[in-house]
Amino acid sequence: MSGSHRAAQRKVNCLMHPDLSPSLPVIPEVCAELWTSAVRVLDANWAGDHTVPSRTLHPHQRSWDTAFTAIGLAYVNQPRAWRDLGSLFAAQWPDGRVPHIAFDPDTPEDAHFPGPRFWNVPAYAGRPALSSTGLVQPPLHALAAWEVYRHAAAHGADAVQQARTELDRLYPRLVAQQEYLGDRRDAGGGGLASIVHPWESGLDDSPAWDEALAAVPANPGPPARAVSGATHPPADTDHARYAGLVLDYQDGGYSDTGLAERHAFVVECPGFNAVTATAELALAQIAGVLGHPSEARRHRERARDVTAAIGRRLWNPETRTFHARDVRTGRLSPAHCVSGLLPLMLPDLEPDRVDGILAELRSERFGLPAPSHDRTAREVDGRRYWRGPVWIDVNWLLRRGLLVHGRRDDAEELRRRLVRLAHRNGHFEYFHPEEGGGLGTSAFSRTAALCLDLLADRSAPAYARAA
Ligand code: GLC
Repeated sequence: MSGSHRAAQRKVNCLMHPDLSPSLPVIPEVCAELWTSAVRVLDANWAGDHTVPSRTLHPHQRSWDTAFTAIGLAYVNQPRAWRDLGSLFAAQWPDGRVPHIAFDPDTPEDAHFPGPRFWNVPAYAGRPALSSTGLVQPPLHALAAWEVYRHAAAHGADAVQQARTELDRLYPRLVAQQEYLGDRRDAGGGGLASIVHPWESGLDDSPAWDEALAAVPANPGPPARAVSGATHPPADTDHARYAGLVLDYQDGGYSDTGLAERHAFVVECPGFNAVTATAELALAQIAGVLGHPSEARRHRERARDVTAAIGRRLWNPETRTFHARDVRTGRLSPAHCVSGLLPLMLPDLEPDRVDGILAELRSERFGLPAPSHDRTAREVDGRRYWRGPVWIDVNWLLRRGLLVHGRRDDAEELRRRLVRLAHRNGHFEYFHPEEGGGLGTSAFSRTAALCLDLLADRSAPAYARAA
């Protein structure tokens, strides 16, 4: 065995740490305690008309956090789930984009960096100036709306009635969100949405962006200050690049015209686009309930098209997995990141690609739960944001992928490990990939909400394939 292989093997053995160990049954006391603590976190983070991801670290409403949170609220408070989604979509721009942060006007400017003034978003469609950012995040909201609707029946006839009304109201907004991404954000012209900032991926500091980000000038102007309270902030130069990219996009009036020629960071992310295709599948289900069969067909076709484009543009036949593509250079990122595994969520993914992802997932690089970055990579760091830690939310998406492709045993194993991880440590934002300890903020809505779903639901999506 070579030295590097031994080191990798040592790391894989660390998967056997009690927090991350396999196959222990989840006993009822564990379920009850985790359920109660999750509900407590969601109650504490409710801010009147939306949920904040965390009172300390992320005090404003966040786009995909709201979707993850609604998936959990579906079990315990349906009206709040709809209210949360409704508040976020009230911040939707006239062009269809759903901003990655909707600012709470009662929260002081310096409670979070960069605050509303830095983004300098003008007033639009009845919304006051400075009320949101101009970036987006993965469009997980159609899936969330579908999941809330799906669980309404357990809350009685009024909840079903409300769910129908809410779906009706949200559907055109969700469609506009998809159209914005599929049209204005198709900067590469190949049928995929591009992100114009690493923060749009939801996997902010992932090594998937390192190559593309290296070509972005570090802007010396704005203060290179980390998000307030972050325990493992990005390097100062990365922060200066993040700030510079925002200012650049803002200078162009947050317009998406000619992005590939004039913007310094234009990247097609496999995770973001896998969520976009999943949203089309959820919209197909929603359109079915609302009695729009031809729309439902159109959404299914669109899901197939995005899946095919992910296969064409982001698959590396040598690594047999998916990688982010820099639209400006046409190069695929060399990094093996968890975002490259997320196309597993797509039912129309070719079997050979499914096998590639499963092999990568089972390799020494990942394992279950999957860390955010290749365990064997030189630059892996188990404590830094998206550069090594385990996040429950992306593992929840991967579990969905396992269910979609009929891998029920693996999905169940992953479910148990995630439940144990959160129960032993608490509702942390992320977890050390070898030791399992909690990192980041400790009362994180996304983790709490998904624990409720992991405890309550073992069903596979309706469009899942047979094993
Ligand atoms: C971090 C995460 C992002 C999330 C935000 C609020 O920026 O990378 O995914 O939306 O925190 O929780």
